[in-house]
Amino acid sequence: MRIGDVVKTAGAEGKEKHVPFIEVGKGKGEAAADVVHVVVGKEVPHPNTVEHHIAWVSLYGVKQDGQIINLGRTDFAPAYTSPNVRFQVPVDQFKAFCAVSYCNVHGVWENCLEL
Ligand SMILES: [Fe+2]
Repeated sequence: MRIGDVVKTAGAEGKEKHVPFIEVGKGKGEAAADVVHVVVGKEVPHPNTVEHHIAWVSLYGVKQDGQIINLGRTDFAPAYTSPNVRFQVPVDQFKAFCAVSYCNVHGVWENCLEL
């Protein structure tokens, strides 16, 4: 077995949504910074209880030469913080972003956004 065998994608979704949605916001003006926004349950909120919640989200960037950069991870406090996070990232240095989320009941999920 390989880790890729157990990581789920959009095709495995049921009524509860787990695939991390990714969108990129380009900074405008001198002080503005680029942002990568990752949210689980954008349209249908995922349950957020101690018994069933999204525990963390990780974001990776894929550079032009294929190198993978670990851009960050956010852990969530069930019932208090929702899986909705923004990472300040120099977007122009990447050709794609991939996010991974972990639900304590339904496992590991992934999604990528190619720029
Ligand atoms: Fe779940």
